[in-house]
Amino acid sequence: MKAIVVTDQAAGTAGMTLVERDVPKPAGNDVLVEVHASGFTPGELTWPSNWTDRLGRDRTPSVPGHELAGVVSALGYGTRGLSVGQRVFGLTDWTRDGTLAQYTEVEARNLAPLPGDVDFTVGASLPISGLTAWQGLFDHGRLQAGQSLLVHGAAGGVGSMVTQLAREAGAYIVGTGRAADREAALDYGAHEFVDLDADALEAVGRVDLVFDVIGGDVQKRSAALLRAGGTLVTIAGPPEARPADGLAIDFVVESDRAQLGEIARRVRDGRLRTNIGTVATLDDAVAAFNPTERATGKTIIQVRP
Ligand SMILES: NC(=O)c1ccc[n+]([C@@H]2O[C@H](COP(=O)([O-])OP(=O)(O)OC[C@H]3O[C@@H](n4cnc5c(N)ncnc54)[C@H](OP(=O)(O)O)[C@@H]3O)[C@@H](O)[C@H]2O)c1
Repeated sequence: MKAIVVTDQAAGTAGMTLVERDVPKPAGNDVLVEVHASGFTPGELTWPSNWTDRLGRDRTPSVPGHELAGVVSALGYGTRGLSVGQRVFGLTDWTRDGTLAQYTEVEARNLAPLPGDVDFTVGASLPISGLTAWQGLFDHGRLQAGQSLLVHGAAGGVGSMVTQLAREAGAYIVGTGRAADREAALDYGAHEFVDLDADALEAVGRVDLVFDVIGGDVQKRSAALLRAGGTLVTIAGPPEARPADGLAIDFVVESDRAQLGEIARRVRDGRLRTNIGTVATLDDAVAAFNPTERATGKTIIQVRP
């Protein structure tokens, strides 16, 4: 089968290569998925799990990409709940070979059924950004209707999902990003937009929840805007700032079949729009992940066009 592999952490996405590999065999509780579309999150190649297994042993050359939509091709011993030929989508294990390949092995519990009217390209764009947004807002941030939310990168992969889900949940949303992102962020449902390069973040005033995807100085300045009892949720690594009278939570997104179902339901009934920027084939994937100009939205690889 064809697969994208990486061997050199320092090279980043420029080190991706298209190779021929054997089709993996599904282990117990695994599903072998024929990948139709695959997603890759910016920053993935900086995570140690792409380079080593859980015991820290080198596992290169490794296949990146940890979200997929495809069709169940075979079941490992003891696998329950899914059947051969079923359409599925989901988030794969960080420490195993991923989804930028024609086939991948995934634990069955990481997958959810993909409804027949959601195409594979859309399905592959949802797991990481959709689940991250859902878990950050509702599991960790405990967002309530009427609360105010500051969401960074509101036109990005995660931020666009955060903005839409928070709007549906009845929050007041201030989105941030680059000047060019203003229209997109407002279109996703932000009530106000702050251009982080030109506007004063401090003018936003007090908020109940910050959803940070950037870290560093932006995170520190945002923590200072929280109301007493507010929460800073970050996906940019361990928090560098602690609110004076509130919580700081960082988390790594986890697979969740029920939440994937909620996300797919919203996509089907039009409450949630995915944010796909570039679609490319597996043969063109390396070029697609190394754009020469600023790319917006998620890059999705149609493995089986
Ligand atoms: N912990 C987790 O579980 C988890 C899950 C998903 C994602 N992540 C991480 O979260 C980050 C965001 O992921 P994503 O998929 O949403 O990426 P994305 O689609 O690139 O969105 C990030 C957005 O934030 C903007 N941005 C970043 N820094 C900025 C700055 N200093 N000023 C203004 N705008 C800025 C980006 O604009 P530019 O492109 O112009 O910079 C982009 O529009 C990545 O680092 C990813 O690895 C973590």
